[in-house]
Formats: sequence, C-alpha cells, structure tokens
Amino acid sequence: MKLKALLSPLVLAISGACLSANIAVANDAGQDIAQDTAQLDVADSLREQQVYRRDRPLWKEPQDTTMAMNDPDLYAWRLFIALNWPGNRDNCKADRNKEFGAEGYATWQLWREVEQTFLPKAEEPKSWRDACRTATDAELFDRPTDPRYTTLEDEDTRLNKAAYNHVRDNKLYSRDEQERLVKAGVKSLVFPLKAKEAKANWVRIEEADKPRYHWVETVQDGVTEIWGLAGLHIMTRDMPKWHWSTFEHVDNETRWPSVYPEAFRGWDEVPSVDRASCPEDNLACNKFPEGLGIEGTRWENYRLRGSQIDWVDNRGNPTVLPNSKIEGDFDQGSMSCMTCHALAVKGESNDGHFPIGLNPGVNEQGLPMGYIGAPDPELFLDENGEEVNYMELDFMWSLRHAQREE
Ligand code: HEC
Repeated sequence: MKLKALLSPLVLAISGACLSANIAVANDAGQDIAQDTAQLDVADSLREQQVYRRDRPLWKEPQDTTMAMNDPDLYAWRLFIALNWPGNRDNCKADRNKEFGAEGYATWQLWREVEQTFLPKAEEPKSWRDACRTATDAELFDRPTDPRYTTLEDEDTRLNKAAYNHVRDNKLYSRDEQERLVKAGVKSLVFPLKAKEAKANWVRIEEADKPRYHWVETVQDGVTEIWGLAGLHIMTRDMPKWHWSTFEHVDNETRWPSVYPEAFRGWDEVPSVDRASCPEDNLACNKFPEGLGIEGTRWENYRLRGSQIDWVDNRGNPTVLPNSKIEGDFDQGSMSCMTCHALAVKGESNDGHFPIGLNPGVNEQGLPMGYIGAPDPELFLDENGEEVNYMELDFMWSLRHAQREE
C-alpha cells in the first residue's frame, strides 16, 4: 500500500516543447515578451518541417528520432496513421494507392505475430517474405477466445520487419541462444532503430457499430462475429528507451466499462494527455489532430491516451500511462510502459523470464500494481542482495516466448 502513496500526483507523458502558439505572454510591465514568442515560433516551424515534409508521406512507416523526442504525441499520431494505413497483402506494407480509412487489414496486422515468431522447439521462423506471401486470414487475425472481451491470451502482438528480422537473424527465438548470450557476457540486446511492435485488443461489436470501428469479421462454427479494435499499443525503437504510445476507442471511456466493468477500467483514474490534439490548458480534451486526414474516417473514433519517453517528468514525478483495456486487469495509476518493460531481462539459466521479484502488491480493489518511475536497482538483485547476471532484452517482453531447442 505504501507504493500507492507515491503515486500522486499522476502525470502522464512528457513532451519537450510547448507547441500551442496562441498563448499571450506578458511581463510585469504588461508588454509582450518577444523572446518567448520567438521560442514558440521555433517550435511551430519545427513541427511544420516534420509533419509536412514532402519526402515523408503519411502512409510510410516513419523512423524519426527527432520527432519522437521533441513532439512525442504528434509522432504517436503519425505512427497511428502509418500503421493503420490499409495494408497490401502482397508485400506486407502500407498500400499507398488506398485511402486512409479504407476497409481491410491495417498495415500492422500484416506484420508477424508472436505465435509465428517463437515456434516450438525454437524452429527457425519463415523469412519475412515467405511468411508474408503465405499468411492466412487466421494468422492475420488472432480471434479472441472470449466472445465478450479479450483476455491476456487474446492479445494480438506483432513485430514489424526490422524487429522480426533482428529476432530471426540473431536466433533470439531460442531460449538456449538467449542464455548463451548471457553467459558470453552480453549485457543488453540492441534492436535497430526501425524496430516497432504493436499490441492490440479487440471487443465484440454489432453490425451497426461497424462504421465507427476498425473491424474484422470471422466465422466461428457457422456464426459470423464482428470484432472491433478497442486498444492499440505501439512501441518504436527510435530511442534507446523506445517511444511508447497507446490508443483507445472512444467507447472505452464509458460504453464498454458499463457493459464489461471487469475488463474496461474507463478513463477517470488516469486522464488522457495529448499535446498534438489539445490546447495546453486542457490536455485531456480527447480529440484527434486535424489536418492529417483522420476526420471523416472510422479512425476519428480513436484517441491517443498518451505517449511516454522518460521515467519521470521534469519535476521528477513518475510518468504514468495505462491503456484502460489492455491493462484493464491492473491498477491504472501504477502503470508505466517503460518501467514495466525495463524488467524484461534474461538470466543465465533460469527457465522463466520473470526472474525478478515482480510483486508490488495489489490496490484496494485487489488489482495488481505495477512499478513507476526509474526502475528500482534492487529488483535486479537476488534474495541475498547479490547482483544477478542479467541480459536486458531491450524492453521487449515478448522475447520471453523464446522456446527451448529441444
Ligand atoms: C505491468 C507491466 C506492463 C505495463 C505497465 C505495460 N506493459 Fe507492455 N507488455 C508487458 C508484458 C508482460 C508483455 C508481454 C506479453 C506477452 O507475453 O506476450 C507486454 C507486451 C507489450 C508489447 C508487445 C511487444 C513486446 O515484446 O513487449 C507492446 C507493443 C507493449 N507491451 C506496449 C506497451 C505500452 C505502449 C505500454 C504503456 C502504454 C505498456 N506496454 C505497458 C507488460 C507491461
């Protein structure tokens, strides 16, 4: 319970610069402070260069460290648009000839799923090209097993080409290989800057909901089911500690929490923070950015809940960022993408990938809590306080799905 006391005030996401230019700044004498305005102009022009540069079309999967650092919320939306662009099944890339919002699989759905990456007996997974060519509908949509809402097993986790090839080329799909690296003294894996991963959750919807959702239709035992995208996590390796963002359908705010209170936590506990869409004095406005082609499409019903690029804000307050659906089984106020993912490490011989004392307790409702802020060094020691030889998995929890060679 002690941890709970440390959680306030909750602060979501960090953004480098204040980007709303419509702030009147006056000094004691009532004059405009020219320098401050100049600062805002600089930020504005930076934003323009980044968003509207001709060689960076919106459909193209971005790798933009500068933008990820300086304008993390806008970068999150750029990722959202590129990754949700209708995909081309022939090459598993965005189909530039299609309009954003057109029906069909989103580009990230054409990426490789965890289940196709970490095969039994650590068999080598298919080349990206072969896997792409042979992908079946069942591989592109991992049907949740619970008809009402999805559980942990129903997460749809996918690696983009750079992440997949890195796992494949370095045999990281093998638990034995991971252990060989630990023994050889490798302290941390390093994924390439283009590496990206997405994790989605779906909810069962009705025919009438279709225009407001990104959806997939499946037939199960002769019954047609429609699944709507409820939540989407995106992590990109643009920076050593990654860029983190999470999106939710607007129905997650009140509609689904009233239908499935045990699966959807709502947005009250941790409000959204979106500097790309909201005025500086109301960052929880829950809108989407205009002028990027989102309006009028099904995607205008999705919201950025926040992005994260540091453990703490500039005042030292831990940053907090849950997805009220994907982390629906957890205490919302103690969710920090980075802090939890920093615990993805591998020991020399331990069989599991949860070698560390992952037990921060439960909240008053009995929901498991997480860690926030900079990782606690003690978590990486054994019960005698001795350092354990861990290899950091570069924040990639899914590497715990690596299999034994025999
Ligand atoms: C309390 C711990 C925790 C928190 C908080 C958390 N995650 Fe995760 N995340 C996990 C675990 C564990 C997995 C691996 C699940 C599995 O076994 O496939 C995972 C998987 C993922 C994946 C799939 C790729 C991978 O290898 O890790 C993405 C993407 C992801 N999380 C993004 C996020 C984002 C974005 C946030 C914050 C909005 C977040 N996570 C918050 C624990 C957490």
